[in-house]
Amino acid sequence: PPMENVLNLDEMEEIATKQVSKKAWAYYHSASDDMFSKSFNNAVYRSILLRPRVFVDCTKCDLDTTVLGHKLNTPIYVSPAAMARLGHPSGEAGIAEACRNFGAMQIISNNASMTPEQIVQDASPDQVFGWQLYVQIDRKKSEAMLARINKLKAIKFIVLTLDAPIPGKREADERTGMTGRTAAVPSGVKAAERSADDTPNPTEGSGGVGQQLFAGTDPSLTWTKTLAWLATQTDLPIILKGLQTHEDAYLASLHAPQVRGIILSNHGGRAMDTAPPAVHTLLEIRKYCPEVFDKIEVHVDGGIRRGTDAVKALCLGATSVGLGRAALWGLAAGGVEGVSRTLQILNDEMKTCMRLLGVERVDQLGLQHINTRAAEQQ
Ligand code: FNR
Repeated sequence: PPMENVLNLDEMEEIATKQVSKKAWAYYHSASDDMFSKSFNNAVYRSILLRPRVFVDCTKCDLDTTVLGHKLNTPIYVSPAAMARLGHPSGEAGIAEACRNFGAMQIISNNASMTPEQIVQDASPDQVFGWQLYVQIDRKKSEAMLARINKLKAIKFIVLTLDAPIPGKREADERTGMTGRTAAVPSGVKAAERSADDTPNPTEGSGGVGQQLFAGTDPSLTWTKTLAWLATQTDLPIILKGLQTHEDAYLASLHAPQVRGIILSNHGGRAMDTAPPAVHTLLEIRKYCPEVFDKIEVHVDGGIRRGTDAVKALCLGATSVGLGRAALWGLAAGGVEGVSRTLQILNDEMKTCMRLLGVERVDQLGLQHINTRAAEQQ
């Protein structure tokens, strides 16, 4: 269907699920155990109410945002997600094209289905990318990757993912690993940067896609040891991804200026089930260590389906808001146009929300615009 007829992200997901193979669907859709965190990530936004102010001139509204000093046209960004070509042949480069047209940031997964060089090839001079690292047991592999990333001018920071040192128990993904052949995937799609000795071909072998992608990933990382190693490999700013408590947010802030930001995330519910959504972690940080917001940038992802969800995260102190599955579903539904439509829908919904709140710019959003009473009791 024509992408301009898609009105919201739920419709986009419905279209996408009809386009992709069973194995790709299981990999994209799945989350750990009972998938509680996955659904609560979104449901928690329903428990926060907005507080619209009236009699305010709301003619103008823009979404301009700054991340680590880089100007963006929207606080919505695309989260790192492996294997985009499972959804559409244009893959991560297709996502990059859509982001370019919207002035949106993109974080490239360590397990992308294209090389970072291919993905940033047509980057515009002001386009902003991050690159996400899963540190490999064989450090030389990660060191070689970082050496390449350091040379790519479009990549402005490293995102080190910490919430999935091991994969969660994603049963839908495991199931397709068992049913192998019946769950056909587009041929030749693989993680571009993973070699045959650790990841034969995650779309063909036994086991689900996710399970296989974790082979070779180092579960022994720690605060001081791993950050010290990373400092010897890159001068790029570091953003730590997957923090789920105020204690860890505070620890991260002690590592500024090497660590310039954190992403509050439970990996879309794909690591620890019943882990808290980013909203709860934002509330905790505000309560116990609000100084974290002054020392490092705080970003969030998980469960964003509506512009109002994103606005609420910004009101709680997030600088930007990531899309995991929503971007993949957009890509699967309509390639570059599908991702563009996804970004358009969310940006339009955010502007409607902000104008109805009586707000012109994202930096004016704050606690005065939300009622978090119910969320604080959860
Ligand atoms: C992910 N995510 C992820 N995160 C990461 O740091 N590296 C990765 O390679 C991946 N891969 C990945 C694949 C797929 C299919 C999904 C759905 C997710 C997690 C991702 O960055 C993000 O944290 C969540 O997807 C956010 O939740 P929503 O937006 O999907 O609800």
